[in-house]
Amino acid sequence: MSYPNHIKDEAARINMNVDDEQFAAKMDEADTLKEFKGEFCFPKVKDCCISENGKTNDSDVIYLTGNSLGLQPKAIQSEMMNYLSDWRQFAVEGHHKGQHPWLTIDEEVQESLSKIVGCKPAECCPMNTLSVNIHMMMAKFYNPTPNRFKIVIEAGAFPSDLYIAESQVRHYGYNPATDLIKLTPPAGEYTLTTDYIKQTLATHGDSIALIMIGGVQFFTGQLFDIKEITAYGHSLGAIVGWDLAHAAGNVELSLHDWNVDFACWCSYKYLNSGPGCIGGLFVHERHTSDFQENNDRRLLGWFGNKLSNRFRKEMPFEAEVGALGFRCSNPSVADCTSLRTSLSITNRASIPKLRAKSLLLTSYLEHLLLTKLPSTHKVSIITPNDPAQRGAQISLNIGGKVEAAKLKNALLDAGVVCDVREPNVLRVAPAPLYVSFTDVKRFVDILVQSLQSTN
Ligand SMILES: Cc1ncc(COP(=O)(O)O)c(C=O)c1O
Repeated sequence: MSYPNHIKDEAARINMNVDDEQFAAKMDEADTLKEFKGEFCFPKVKDCCISENGKTNDSDVIYLTGNSLGLQPKAIQSEMMNYLSDWRQFAVEGHHKGQHPWLTIDEEVQESLSKIVGCKPAECCPMNTLSVNIHMMMAKFYNPTPNRFKIVIEAGAFPSDLYIAESQVRHYGYNPATDLIKLTPPAGEYTLTTDYIKQTLATHGDSIALIMIGGVQFFTGQLFDIKEITAYGHSLGAIVGWDLAHAAGNVELSLHDWNVDFACWCSYKYLNSGPGCIGGLFVHERHTSDFQENNDRRLLGWFGNKLSNRFRKEMPFEAEVGALGFRCSNPSVADCTSLRTSLSITNRASIPKLRAKSLLLTSYLEHLLLTKLPSTHKVSIITPNDPAQRGAQISLNIGGKVEAAKLKNALLDAGVVCDVREPNVLRVAPAPLYVSFTDVKRFVDILVQSLQSTN
């Protein structure tokens, strides 16, 4: 799908100038997704502020941290109450009774999840949490041999992913110092081009067993070319998996068509299902169709077994179809309830429409940052300026004398929630479900003032 992805083109299309005072309000008026904002709970400034200054401010914050933890959908509270009421009313019979029987509570969301990541419903399911799922996928897919034993990951990957990869390499008796290949941007740069990644992969060639990269980089906000990198990894004979924590619900994905081997994600960022909520898993159907207990490296538990055999250890393990066959434990009903509710909002809005709005919103943010921030403040954008190479998030390197942590607090006092990653990067993510063009405009005004006050 192609969209107008630059805010100046959009402004020209509606006969306006992007810097017109009324532009943001006009964009909000025309926004077909604007009603969704009302479906979320916004914290108040007085509850988020750091100093006494904001303590009497009863207005909603501008929330630009959906890349870390999404806002609470209002509908979740009553769905959770229904779940508690089913538990109270039916106790163990709730596995079979009530509007959402617990026995199939995770299967209920497979279809919704498949729309988020672009696959067949059977290829995905909610399960565990992200780091655990990556370990479980590596148990299945990291199959080192004397000639092919390396794992490739970004040097700047999320810490958990680095721990996982290092411990997996060690687990099989290899040495992370030599056998874990870390993709490091060229000196002075933050991002990795596809060509650069391919060159590094080519250098290690058929010694690579597995490649795992974050689809959208958590620090820089860079969106990688998942299709191209997956195809290139396959041409070298490697398995290619993706950590989609920052991509799920943020950008369009076609995991099945892109032939991705496996992917894992969390649901508490752009998917708004709540802190620590259940993660998601994709396994391409070509890896699940020929399960044989003696010839499959996946880790087994009772819930991956066919329902008919689940209590019968004397029977051979017959994996459930597709991703469900990777489950070990029974899923948390509270988590699946929350996830079902939040996914229904995302899918009502639809990923293509969210992405279309997000491209414009982030382009608007970028435009205002480039034009409104005084050059005396040494703030630079480290996210790629090509909209096709980023999601919602823009990461700002706060140079000069300003400390990003102090800046974050000043923003909180002024009613804006952003986050900071060491050493000095402010991450700003206008999630299109609940951030408006007017919010983005106000944010940049507040940022300019906050930079002045913290300098
Ligand atoms: C890119 C990335 N990978 C992994 C994780 C770890 O997630 P979890 O604690 O759900 O395992 C996070 C958490 O924010 C993340 O952003």
